Amino acid sequence: MTELTRRPRRLRITKSIRDLVSETRLSSKMLIYPIFVREGKNIIENIDAMPGQKRYSPDKLPEILERVAAKNIGGILLFGIPDKKDECASAAWDENGVIQNAMRVAKKYFPDLTIIGDVCMCEYTSHGHCGIIKNVNGENIIDNDSSLEFLARIALSQAQAGADIIAPSDMMDGRVAAIRSKLDENGFINTPILSYAVKYASSFYGPFREAAGSAPAFGDRKTYQMDFRNVREAVKEALLDIDEGADMLIVKPALAYLDVLKSVREKTFVPVAAYSVSGEYSMIKAAAMNGWLNEQNVVTESAFSIARAGADMIITYFALELADWIRNF
Ligand code: PBG
Repeated sequence: MTELTRRPRRLRITKSIRDLVSETRLSSKMLIYPIFVREGKNIIENIDAMPGQKRYSPDKLPEILERVAAKNIGGILLFGIPDKKDECASAAWDENGVIQNAMRVAKKYFPDLTIIGDVCMCEYTSHGHCGIIKNVNGENIIDNDSSLEFLARIALSQAQAGADIIAPSDMMDGRVAAIRSKLDENGFINTPILSYAVKYASSFYGPFREAAGSAPAFGDRKTYQMDFRNVREAVKEALLDIDEGADMLIVKPALAYLDVLKSVREKTFVPVAAYSVSGEYSMIKAAAMNGWLNEQNVVTESAFSIARAGADMIITYFALELADWIRNF
């Protein structure tokens, strides 16, 4: 019943005292809301695999940002969905690309809202992979090193368009250093990097890939995302990214990886975010829509669990609802 004890029995205490002594607190300011922005005008469309989440054209973004700002959410994480894809993701660093337009709109109407730019190539490449593809001896491989310049270019163009924080999610080795030096050379010395340092090759990203149209056309992401059997490797990746200049880290997914989150929190000294991914969202939604789970209670309990495991920030598609629900605690 409570964490207060007086031998030989536990004390019965009121809700108000339980609140006073609770070990974990949540605030809307530690929540980050991911938003999908697609090319076009006057569009707000549903995402089938993520009931309640939508794709917005840049001109329609203020409608959702209004709600985000009213609820005191800590930041938004923007994903772009372009019309045209090619081998090297050129739409991703186009000055007039969908994500750049979205960032300018967000900055113009909501200058105080922290904009985080997801830097990756998979939504913009024709093959759906997160880097450049090279054919070596008849086999298509992701070419880590030639991808770095492209990723740095994408990061720079987002910073120029108004991104306050750059979040590389591609998982190429060396990209934090490449992005840091590109930002510094161009005067963005105060733009922090929030690195997806610990990103597992996870089937929980399924609904996102439908939302963003970013499923790989061949193969999988196992050569550049992490093996879910490993946790020491996560700490190693985190320390390497900090060495390269990462200011903050992401552990992703969240609920199935709370042990990883705890290890990373304990072994590093930078702010750590947990990304509760699309599959985590859709599982709860599906069960709730069938009346099998109480959505509010399950989402709130999950968020507190993620915070208890050590998350300083939580990236979640439930951010808007959670902001209200955690007020009861
Ligand atoms: C882009 C990216 C992905 C997610 C965030 N950034 C997809 C992937 O790596 O396949 C997944 C987010 C989610 O599932 O909510 N690389």
